Amino acid sequence: MKVLVTGANGFVGSHIVDRLVRLQIPTVALLRPNGDRAFLTGQLANVELRTGRFDDAAALDAALEGITLVIHCAGATNARNREGFFAVNQGVTRELVAAVNRRSAQIQRFLLVSSLAAAGPGTPMTPRTENHAPAPVSDYGRSKLAAEQEVIQGSQTDWTIIRPPAVYGPRDREFLRLFKAAKSHLRPTFGGGKQALTLVFVQDLAAVIVAALTHPRASREIFFAGSTEVVTTAELATGVAAAVDSWTMPLPLPNAVLWLACHWAGLATRITGKANVLSPQKWAELKAPGWVCEVSKLQRNLGCSCPTDLTEGLARTRDWYQENGWL
Ligand SMILES: NC(=O)c1ccc[n+]([C@@H]2O[C@H](COP(=O)([O-])OP(=O)(O)OC[C@H]3O[C@@H](n4cnc5c(N)ncnc54)[C@H](OP(=O)(O)O)[C@@H]3O)[C@@H](O)[C@H]2O)c1
Repeated sequence: MKVLVTGANGFVGSHIVDRLVRLQIPTVALLRPNGDRAFLTGQLANVELRTGRFDDAAALDAALEGITLVIHCAGATNARNREGFFAVNQGVTRELVAAVNRRSAQIQRFLLVSSLAAAGPGTPMTPRTENHAPAPVSDYGRSKLAAEQEVIQGSQTDWTIIRPPAVYGPRDREFLRLFKAAKSHLRPTFGGGKQALTLVFVQDLAAVIVAALTHPRASREIFFAGSTEVVTTAELATGVAAAVDSWTMPLPLPNAVLWLACHWAGLATRITGKANVLSPQKWAELKAPGWVCEVSKLQRNLGCSCPTDLTEGLARTRDWYQENGWL
């Protein structure tokens, strides 16, 4: 067995690499030539690094030499516009599926790290299930759904799709904003703090991905992978404040303010050409009533779960941020 991981130097991908190494599974990290290696520094002795452009068929063919399983985790969670999301999330997936097809006799499974965003919002009363027709609300979600279609329709090898909800944990820069706000005694809550979320702690997600990679009952199946705990954005902000042991004042961000901030950021992106975490697309995600998914299929088919609860996950995240001088 030899596993190739794309996106291996990113937040989620680096934890997948850690998990594979811990299980002593021979691992190859495929990086872009200028990809930052900071998250892989602890594993350089344990992992083979291969570099190449993902739009270069010959480079992909060389990268797949001797590989038996592929985890495709590379993706764009932020982009300047629709084309930017589709070029990476759909385009790179298409190139990789084609390269894997050229080695279909050798490669046993292609696992795509997709997203709950590909399926669309869900609430505690009506959580998204794998059986619901996908209804993404943003270009990010639509591009991840297009990536799924590339795999389902194009892959000649066996495949599995894992759809995580929002991921948090060591090395994540998105939740870091909430930790920094709490340290500054602020507890931001948007839209009344009522949006309900399924979350996943990154090390749980990495364990699920690696388990699904070879599991016979993961063949040609889609799974949501998240905690069974559902929290509101207000509860999340309170949990982060407790994790950093900081008194905090509520900082309500009403929908009107968020709408304005997202559309203002969209205009700024058009002028400067620089992607921003806020955008009109982000507004579509922020105003959704919830991002809740049902995770029982994972347990039923694979016997896997994401057991880390929010209190423990936030404490472990805080510890890592503090040890690494991020907080
Ligand atoms: N974080 C979340 O909350 C979350 C939730 C659901 C799903 N996901 C999915 O999980 C995956 C990883 O996300 P992440 O949070 O770990 O993001 P990340 O830290 O930004 O990592 C993204 C990875 O993708 C690579 N990448 C980006 N554009 C690329 C391109 N054009 N060609 C090849 N590689 C490219 C990056 O490589 P470079 O360093 O070279 O740019 C990096 O390794 C994505 O597919 C994302 O959709 C994430």
